[in-house]
Amino acid sequence: MAGSREGTGQTALVTGASMGIGVDLAECFARDGYDLVLTARSESALKEVAARLAQQHGVKATAIASDLGVPGAGEKLATAIKAAGIEIDALVNNAGYGIAGAFEGSDRTRQLGMIDLNDRALVELTHIYWPRMLANKRGGVLNVASTASFQPGPLMAIYYASKAFVLSFSEALWKEAEGTGVHVSCLCPGPTVSNFRATAGTGKTRLSRTGTPMPSAVVAEEGYRGWKANRRVVITGARNRVMARLVPFLPRKTILGLVHNLQSPL
Ligand SMILES: NC(=O)c1ccc[n+]([C@@H]2O[C@H](COP(=O)([O-])OP(=O)(O)OC[C@H]3O[C@@H](n4cnc5c(N)ncnc54)[C@H](OP(=O)(O)O)[C@@H]3O)[C@@H](O)[C@H]2O)c1
Repeated sequence: MAGSREGTGQTALVTGASMGIGVDLAECFARDGYDLVLTARSESALKEVAARLAQQHGVKATAIASDLGVPGAGEKLATAIKAAGIEIDALVNNAGYGIAGAFEGSDRTRQLGMIDLNDRALVELTHIYWPRMLANKRGGVLNVASTASFQPGPLMAIYYASKAFVLSFSEALWKEAEGTGVHVSCLCPGPTVSNFRATAGTGKTRLSRTGTPMPSAVVAEEGYRGWKANRRVVITGARNRVMARLVPFLPRKTILGLVHNLQSPL
């Protein structure tokens, strides 16, 4: 199985790889021969995923548990990866969570923790591995944002803002890397089957009744293919693409009212 696949001899670091979209993204890289470093907090789940992907795809897969919501965790993780003698060629910043509900009365520690994970850790890891990618003129970064990136999100304000950051940052890096051989893509899924909804509490909003969530494997496949083609932004699903492209043409007040309605409790 190993040998001639395009990722052979390279390693992808995938965050949030204990479940959901991250597992499927890791599988896409493994299928193409990339060795893997998988990280999340749940060590036993990570080890199971690593063992399965290594066995099924004939790659090396290393599980390193880490709470990336803790400031400095990216640096600590990178030190552990280096100590294991592993160099990272591709970085998949997928770990993230959301919090549904009004800003007023929300848990400040959780809200700030979400920014630490969704944005701070993503920037930290990218900053650590970016110079090697540019020097090698290969590899790159696949950041997982959301269709939430395209407009403000009343009743889920910090999550939407955190994902707008990811989109803005990713597009800027895509331009900085243009012509170098380093790929940068921002994957923007709409509702997707995973644990996300239970964690965020979005299962109790009107948005949860507006359509069928996409399977995580399909979302990951679209994201991975887009990254291989160095597509700047990958929005999964035709309906999500139409909605995201309409946003710039609608009055901001209309958008705010629409999202507020969708994020309202049932
Ligand atoms: N599902 C959707 O509808 C949807 C839509 C748009 C965007 N997204 C984005 O897709 C990404 C993946 O989410 P998902 O849908 O696959 O949700 P998920 O099933 O809840 O998976 C989230 C992953 O992030 C990890 N994680 C959470 N907190 C962490 C922390 N503090 N440190 C390290 N890892 C942590 C989780 O592992 P542990 O709990 O083991 O740490 C898990 O592996 C997220 O960035 C999310 O915002 C999801």
